[in-house]
Amino acid sequence: MTSTNEIRRSFLDYFGHSGHDVVQSAPLVPFNDPTLMFVNAGMVPFKNVFTGIENRATPRAASSQKCVRAGGKHNDLDNVGYTARHHTFFEMLGNFSFGDYFKEQAITHAWTLLTKEWGLAPDRLTATVYHTDDEAFDLWRKIAGLPEERIIRIPTSDNFWSMGDTGPCGPCSEIFYDHGAHIPGGPPGSPDEDGDRFIEIWNLVFMQFEQSADGTRTALPKPSIDTGMGLERIAAVLQGVHDNYDTDTFKALIAASESLTGVKAEGENQASHRVIADHLRSTSFLLADGVLPSNEGRGYVLRRIMRRAMRHAHLLGAKDPLMHRLVGALVAEMGQAYPELGRAQPLIEETLQREEVQFRRTLANGLKLLDEATGGMGEGAELPGETAFKLYDTFGFPYDLTEDALRARGIGVDRAGFDAAMDQQKAAARAAWKGSGQAADDEVWYDIAERAGATEFTGYTATTAEAQVLALVKDGKEVVSAAAGDSVSVIVNQTPFYGESGGQMGDAGTIVGADGFALAVTDTGKPLGRLHAHHGVIQAGTVKLGDTVKLDIDVARRDATRANHSATHLLHQALRDRLGTHVTQKGSLVAPDRLRFDYSHPAALTAEDLAVIEAAVNAQIRGNEPVVTRLMSPDEAIEAGAMALFGEKYGDEVRVLSMGHGETRAFSTELCGGTHVRALGDIGLFRIISESAVSSGVRRIEALTGEGARQWLVSREDALKGAASLLKTTPDDVVSRVAALLDERKRLERELADAKKALALGGGGAKADAADEEVGGVKFSGQVLEGLDPKDLRGLLDVAKQRLGSGVAAIVAVSDGKASIAAAVTDDLTGTISAVDLVRAGVAALGGQGGGGRADMAQGGGPDGSKAAEAIAAVKAVLAG
Ligand code: ALA
Repeated sequence: MTSTNEIRRSFLDYFGHSGHDVVQSAPLVPFNDPTLMFVNAGMVPFKNVFTGIENRATPRAASSQKCVRAGGKHNDLDNVGYTARHHTFFEMLGNFSFGDYFKEQAITHAWTLLTKEWGLAPDRLTATVYHTDDEAFDLWRKIAGLPEERIIRIPTSDNFWSMGDTGPCGPCSEIFYDHGAHIPGGPPGSPDEDGDRFIEIWNLVFMQFEQSADGTRTALPKPSIDTGMGLERIAAVLQGVHDNYDTDTFKALIAASESLTGVKAEGENQASHRVIADHLRSTSFLLADGVLPSNEGRGYVLRRIMRRAMRHAHLLGAKDPLMHRLVGALVAEMGQAYPELGRAQPLIEETLQREEVQFRRTLANGLKLLDEATGGMGEGAELPGETAFKLYDTFGFPYDLTEDALRARGIGVDRAGFDAAMDQQKAAARAAWKGSGQAADDEVWYDIAERAGATEFTGYTATTAEAQVLALVKDGKEVVSAAAGDSVSVIVNQTPFYGESGGQMGDAGTIVGADGFALAVTDTGKPLGRLHAHHGVIQAGTVKLGDTVKLDIDVARRDATRANHSATHLLHQALRDRLGTHVTQKGSLVAPDRLRFDYSHPAALTAEDLAVIEAAVNAQIRGNEPVVTRLMSPDEAIEAGAMALFGEKYGDEVRVLSMGHGETRAFSTELCGGTHVRALGDIGLFRIISESAVSSGVRRIEALTGEGARQWLVSREDALKGAASLLKTTPDDVVSRVAALLDERKRLERELADAKKALALGGGGAKADAADEEVGGVKFSGQVLEGLDPKDLRGLLDVAKQRLGSGVAAIVAVSDGKASIAAAVTDDLTGTISAVDLVRAGVAALGGQGGGGRADMAQGGGPDGSKAAEAIAAVKAVLAG
């Protein structure tokens, strides 16, 4: 038997050998299409190559693409479990030609692979063509030698393939495998074509057109080829079974679920095992590609699929959560072809387990209510919409789960009634919101949120997205279009732009659209905590509701912001490790160029504290551990040791970020909705640049990371080098050189003061005497001495008195712009002249007040050293009477 893994490999090898680039499957969330929920065909990642927007080096490619069909145009959810070939997740094998080969080679390749490489009997194969496509008809005759009755012309849309309501499309030719006369059913196009005998295995699409939203079709730049073969179907054919669920992969998954539940996949239990096996694949792959369960958008589709599987696990009598215990079996089957599955295994298991524990809390009660409500109902009856809504609202039953639960009994659900009950609840919520007195400004956001739902944030994994414009706000009001020069806020269905929250600043970047529309987004807000509002000024063109736009965040700015955010978590933990667990976050700002963290602690940090904390953070950075994100309920997160975040509002589930290596567990565990580095090494470097007080008991640290920290250090080193060059030494010797200079300066100051003193004491002899004069009938000596220590004033005045014999001396000592003044009167004159009066006059001239001492010696000072001469003059004026 050829295993599914071998078939996938052999398909890719075949096309690889015939000039095709073998391309990895793209993630399930489309990066290039705003209208698609999930990738639903192999060609989706190449959409822009078909339409000519993008080029590839090689005009041929082949892939095995992960696909999910559960929502949107191609939705198989309702049928899964009850048929042989419906899946929510499947792999599409495809070969693509981008304007290279066309119909002839596409048919040749398909025929060669099926009949030569894989050895399928040609007489088991039938082809269909679009009814007007004579060319394809003739090629099937020529290449495959199929008889005319096995080339069937089909006039319906079955043979005209399109990706969605818009996008590349074209007529197609399908290849059917005849599973044999023992199975009822007729060939395609026949009245009993819906039987199970003839099964479509491969669809060759001759891509020729692009369909726009208004239904018109324009020719693609070059005719191209897109083919799709369901791996599960071809595996069934090659493994000689009729049912996809009997292929090796599904058998292994179903065996695992049989063994864990102890219930055989037989009779009425078969569908439940199939649902579980199928949904295990879709949920695990979606989780591995970054979709997390939520109540909106993709996350809600994921949750619906999960809960559907979980109800079937319950139906099989599983006493404990089941799904997460099956992930190992899935990884064993598919982990080699899709390594992302193994990498995400812990996340997948934890998420499935948490969801199942949570859902089981209400599941039994919901089913009881459902039993009571349908007790008297027979086949063909309808469950009231209100009951379905109650099941949804109170017990977490997605609408389709209720439908699925009643399906076996032939009971339907009143969809209109369900929708009406939902609308009523929304109206009540609005009335309550209005009553709460929220700012009128917010009303515009409320209207938008109610109509458009929460914005789906794709920016944990993506930096770019295509999206549809759902609302435009200008001057606080909704508008239908806006043009160049307008300052607007744009709301789209999905965005990689982070909206400011949890201390992290919003993203900046660009939004562009058709006809040259370009908006420079300067900031992204998060009104009501649900909408991502892109604020900016339109630089060119116009935009209107419904437009498809392309969003690109400023990646460098985001990378810098992420580094600062992850560093903030590390800093928080390092502070607690050093200072104690009383340290809690009191506020935080995570900007692209810096981080600021406020925390509770009563005292300033010592230099040693700062050094230890900074070293601890940098050690984690060098450890380069990947950052792990898990989704948990708030209670579980706290149990897991997460520190609750400041001012966050918690929903049903929270993101828990673990990073780094602690002694027994991760270094840091926090609840956080922000964006973070992939591995701690991405932070590069962490540097604290200030520590200060914010208020009593709250301290603040500001720090830099990565390139910002490097530049800061470089500027510090430049300053050091500048100092070294002025000092004519090397940076290493700056400290000893400055110490020596300071010593020298002290010595020089001392010498200078001594010299001045000597000068004043008469070292200059005649010069000092020359200052003596006669004022008011007494001998007077007045001097101003720069740089003199005021301590020396008295000694100098004593010397002057001796010299004068009888008279008055005054000295003003000026240093650092301030002045001290002292005056002395020889004893014979103290009866008539008081030194205190003289000093007081001098002090006043110096801009000061007071001054004191005795009649023979007094001292004082003033702030204005430039008035020294005036002070002497003032003394003389007093003497002169
Ligand atoms: N894109 C084509 C399909 O999905 C091949 O069937």
